[in-house]
Amino acid sequence: MQSDKSLTTNKSFILDFIMSTDLSTDDRFQPINLFEYEKLAKEYLSQTTLDYYSSGAWDEITLRDNRAAFERVKLRPRILVDVSDRNLSTSILGQPLQLPLLIAPMAFQCLAHPDGEVATALAAASAGVGMVLSTMATKSIEEVATVCNQFPDSLRWFQLYIHKDRGLTRALVEKAYTAGYKALCLTVDAPVLGQRERDRRNEFALPQDLHLANLASISGLDIYHEKGESGLFTYFAQQLNPAVTWDDLEWLQSLSPLPLVIKGVLRPDDAVRAVEYGAKAIVVSNHGGRQLDGAIASLDALAEIVAAVDSKVEVVLDGGIRRGTDILKALALGAKAVLIGRPILWGLAVAGQIGVSHVISLLQDELNLGMALSGCAKIQDIDPSLLTLPRL
Ligand code: FNR
Ligand code: LAC
Repeated sequence: MQSDKSLTTNKSFILDFIMSTDLSTDDRFQPINLFEYEKLAKEYLSQTTLDYYSSGAWDEITLRDNRAAFERVKLRPRILVDVSDRNLSTSILGQPLQLPLLIAPMAFQCLAHPDGEVATALAAASAGVGMVLSTMATKSIEEVATVCNQFPDSLRWFQLYIHKDRGLTRALVEKAYTAGYKALCLTVDAPVLGQRERDRRNEFALPQDLHLANLASISGLDIYHEKGESGLFTYFAQQLNPAVTWDDLEWLQSLSPLPLVIKGVLRPDDAVRAVEYGAKAIVVSNHGGRQLDGAIASLDALAEIVAAVDSKVEVVLDGGIRRGTDILKALALGAKAVLIGRPILWGLAVAGQIGVSHVISLLQDELNLGMALSGCAKIQDIDPSLLTLPRL
């Protein structure tokens, strides 16, 4: 297998160009939208990494439907509104955001770029958007916190996978709290890993120079090569606790004062229960189509969940956000903010922190324009009347 590094070197002329260019003014060769970033990123990644990042589970029906759901929802713009002065800022769990966007937790970002999660965190913090660091990160909780601390208002959450080893789980929560993360984002749609068949074929594993930065330091755990299987699939089967239930949420909340965010909710009854068990926010998500294939598109699940929680908690959406108008649609359906996943990895692969910053700024510009064209000067103007929903 050709390593990511050598591929990056082969393509360094593109990287050099992007690095030497003012991304905001020169548009000759650089991506002008997130789809173009995806296309360009393929030049920078090994096939194994590209497969891991882009895959959905099994037939990828849910992966495709996450996108299709946005295309089914149509906008009904408001006219003759003064939109000369626009403001995209909002808040999440009481903390300011320059736009209603957080970077989704995604494992193994050093496969895309040597700076990995540190580059992503710097780009997020400098744009005033949030960053959710994965338990499976290749940079540590502390490394990411240190760079974010240059930005006093930066918002970071820690995403938690509950391991069979309770002491290890406790240590992760305590580290995140001590390092200034502002919420614990518990992912509940992965008691076991979904089957991504390309990863199985590729026998996906981390290269020898990369490690699970948080887990290796506490307990020596890592992702190992496994014959005929994805090493990550095996890691989940061996290390994660598939017996976690609602009753464990009390224990989890006793470990730190961090507010609990439950990620991976697709049913209104589960959303209501999450609120009853103390969650302060909910992420409507099917894990980017990587877990249960055939699951409902996350956008299709949103409105019912928003209605069921009845403003008691904030609702965040992820899955398939690729345009500013997708953010507009999610907010019109009641989301307070969205998480963006794969396009961040494409930006990271192409140009590290600069690429991630550019991806965020493209989305920001598109949301800004989409709001103007729909008669919304500020986030609070975005409401359900802007949409026509498909007939189901
Ligand atoms: C993820 N996702 C994820 N979620 C999580 O809770 N913990 C994790 O470690 C990861 N890791 C991960 C790796 C990669 C490569 C991808 C693509 C995704 C899921 C992620 O947080 C989010 O739910 C989806 O990626 C959102 O969908 P889009 O924006 O990628 O379509
Ligand atoms: C993934 C895991 C790590 O989606 O959440 O690959």
